[in-house]
Amino acid sequence: MLKVAVYDTKSYDRRYFQTEGADSFDWKFHEFRLSAETAATAEGADAVCVFVNDRLDRDCLEALKSHGIRHVALRCAGFNNVDLDAARQAGICITRVPAYSPNAVAEHSVALLMTLNRKIHRAYNRIREQNFSLGGLVGFDLAGKTVGIVGTGKIGQIAARIFTGYGCRILLFDKYPNYEWAGMLGASYVPLEDLTRGADIISLYVPLTPDTHHLIGEKLLRETRKGVFIVNTSRGKLIDTAALINGLKSGQVGGVALDVYEEEEGIFFEDLSERIVQDDELIRLIGFPNVLVTAHQAFLTEEALDKITEVTLANLIEIARGGKPLEGTRL
Ligand code: NAI
Repeated sequence: MLKVAVYDTKSYDRRYFQTEGADSFDWKFHEFRLSAETAATAEGADAVCVFVNDRLDRDCLEALKSHGIRHVALRCAGFNNVDLDAARQAGICITRVPAYSPNAVAEHSVALLMTLNRKIHRAYNRIREQNFSLGGLVGFDLAGKTVGIVGTGKIGQIAARIFTGYGCRILLFDKYPNYEWAGMLGASYVPLEDLTRGADIISLYVPLTPDTHHLIGEKLLRETRKGVFIVNTSRGKLIDTAALINGLKSGQVGGVALDVYEEEEGIFFEDLSERIVQDDELIRLIGFPNVLVTAHQAFLTEEALDKITEVTLANLIEIARGGKPLEGTRL
């Protein structure tokens, strides 16, 4: 039996992992996150399995090494929470699930935008109170609008295709453009400044790197169309929250749909309904009528959870046997 300590566990992780890996794994599910402070709880495990908000910095990785851990399996695609140099130096193999369901994330980004634009969330609440009025529910047609897709990897490409289906004009930006795909879609790559100036909606599909940190900040927001809608299902730190709040207050930003938030760690995935949330910027954001927030759930579909389970379990077994991780999953 392979002993695996799983961190930041939710009910669905338990259900999927236990069902698929019943015969081969001895799971230790922890609800708290992995960090240097909690790494000692990995003692006795062969490997650890983590998610987006576990913090695998140098101290944590060195602590894991001292507890005999040789493999960290990320059950997500993004890996900005791992110090890869420190992992290499500690001789710890890091694997991830590079593409579990790009459809899940792309579809959620469009769902968020449509909910926000057509005010479905407000209508739902009204109608539950037998309030059938329409005041304040005016949206806009998506057909004919210009959508700026920032990042045209797996998720961005699917989102671009969906928006094309709505009849939108698409502007693309990526550090490594894929001209062949863009040609087939009938869309063009433009410099970020042109996308910023030309888009009615800007939707983010880039990873968080030093280059993309606070990509949406004061400067970019000064150059957008008045009333621009911004969608972020990628990583919270792509947006400077203080600048976004200023943009919302001035009306420069007309709507914001977020599945990720700059300081989501310790807040998203938790039930804080009986506590006092200390993050004033998040509470301010939620208070705007033209902001819609979900708590990092874009990935949460059955298809994605199946794929995450399949890839993570296969890698855990293979690496424990001294074999190679699945192609493209090793960092
Ligand atoms: P991908 O690696 O297929 O595509 C990322 C694209 O961004 C690539 O085309 C790359 O060239 C581009 N890029 C990288 N750095 C750039 C820069 N500085 N400027 C412009 N373009 C740049 O990744 P994928 O699968 O499309 O995922 C994108 C992001 O979505 C992930 O990095 C992750 O942070 C986020 N994500 C969010 C989830 C959620 O549940 N909310 C779930 C899965 C991923």
